[in-house]
Amino acid sequence: MPDFELKPPCPPRKPASSAATRAPGFTIEFMTSAIDNRLATLKQRFDTREARIGIVGMGYVGLPLALLFSGQRFRVTGFDIEQAKVDKLNSGGSYIVRILPAEIQAAQQAGFSATADYSEIAEMDAVIICVPTPLNEHNEPDLSFVTKTVQAIAPRIHEGQLIVLESTTYPGTTEEIVVPLLEAGNPRGLLVSRTIEESGVHVAFSPEREDPGNDKVARHDIPKVIGGCGPAATELASVMYNSIFGRVVPVSSPSVAEMTKLLENIYRCVNIALVNELKQLSMRMGIDIHEVIDAAKTKPFGFQAFYPGPGLGGHCIPIDPFYLSWKARQYDFRTRFIELAGAVNTDMPYFVIEQIGNGLNEQRKSIKGSKVLVLGLAYKRDIDDLRESPSLTIIELLRDKGAEVFYNDPYFAKVGRGRHYDLNMTNTPLDNLSQYDAVVIVTDHSSYDYKAIVAQSQLVVDTRNATKGITAANIVRC
Ligand SMILES: NC(=O)c1ccc[n+]([C@@H]2O[C@H](COP(=O)([O-])OP(=O)(O)OC[C@H]3O[C@@H](n4cnc5c(N)ncnc54)[C@H](O)[C@@H]3O)[C@@H](O)[C@H]2O)c1
Repeated sequence: MPDFELKPPCPPRKPASSAATRAPGFTIEFMTSAIDNRLATLKQRFDTREARIGIVGMGYVGLPLALLFSGQRFRVTGFDIEQAKVDKLNSGGSYIVRILPAEIQAAQQAGFSATADYSEIAEMDAVIICVPTPLNEHNEPDLSFVTKTVQAIAPRIHEGQLIVLESTTYPGTTEEIVVPLLEAGNPRGLLVSRTIEESGVHVAFSPEREDPGNDKVARHDIPKVIGGCGPAATELASVMYNSIFGRVVPVSSPSVAEMTKLLENIYRCVNIALVNELKQLSMRMGIDIHEVIDAAKTKPFGFQAFYPGPGLGGHCIPIDPFYLSWKARQYDFRTRFIELAGAVNTDMPYFVIEQIGNGLNEQRKSIKGSKVLVLGLAYKRDIDDLRESPSLTIIELLRDKGAEVFYNDPYFAKVGRGRHYDLNMTNTPLDNLSQYDAVVIVTDHSSYDYKAIVAQSQLVVDTRNATKGITAANIVRC
């Protein structure tokens, strides 16, 4: 048993006629009782686009979300504590490479503006929280961004307002952290609505499921999972999200929605660890793991392809599993799959260093004193995000071993200090490649000409299978 008192779970939702249980694209049926009229009025504001949407956190998640709502003629206000971001947006500019200034300007035409002033929260019909949920120095959840946000909005909430948390987090966060802070922090004593009869503020959790850099699935086509603290919250949030997403998937509680997001990310983390381990075995056995995966994925059922690489990166897959393993400890439970996957994936940059050493060794050289060019800083192809990127670890490990390290990445002119690194480097042009003892492909940006890179380099260490189809003696694939 856990050694703390859990809050009672949300009461079960009313079955059947709720709009949220219907197929996507439903039209709102207006019901007859006073209670239903009250809800219908709130829903109608979303349906007619009179509802004002506030999005807290104008980052990789919040800004694209704001643009989706603006694209559907909602008047959106973006809140952010970074004044520089607010100023950039209000001047019609963008600080995310894949979002063009023209998109911000089009949103401005629909009423979009940004602010660092929380007093405007009071004017919003819905407030969606998209702030960071990192780990602290002990690899434990750091919910300070969420708690600070909720404490700042709590004094300004009003009856009938919808508050949705989108930040990835452990099951229980909405009920155990967000709800108590909202209820304690507003001077009018507003409570969170739990039943269809109760008025109050409506609270839900709905995870962001974006896949940055994925051009194959439009964001609108990613179904939106929603778990409200009461049926009215689920219903209102479903109406709101149904205006920008093709399909909403209501679930019975915020905890189910929170756990859904973690299951998705842990599934990726564990399967990537599996292929990373099998890659190392395959290399010893002289088998090309990529050829194996390509053959396996011809099976029309029961197999999904995951690919090995230099280690995990990004704000989600390396971090989110730890949210669950931390929470599991409160239940005296060990999440062994997460631990094992974490151990295998964390070792991958070290494995890459070993392979660089082996490649140099073949040429009678050592890492110490070698000039090494790392290609790609971003944690994955064609994006401008280097959070938790394995490139950063690989650069630090190479430096520790005495290599002189350079990098090239079209998305980063320079790299300074981050959560785990302090590199202080500037982008090196992609020319005169023969000067380097090794060129290491860590991020397979599609702008690179891999044939030319192989032709011009002394040694290429390829961690992404980017040189597939190129036959040359100077390639080490790992
Ligand atoms: N980036 C992704 O691809 C992705 C995908 C799925 C889920 N998520 C999750 O979404 C959440 C947000 O991630 P992100 O990538 O957008 O982060 P981000 O760092 O890009 O953006 C967060 C923004 O919130 C702002 N902020 C922080 N505290 C604030 C406060 N108190 N008030 C107002 N603004 C504040 C920051 O200045 C920043 O602009 C995280 O929980 C993350 O795990 C991210």
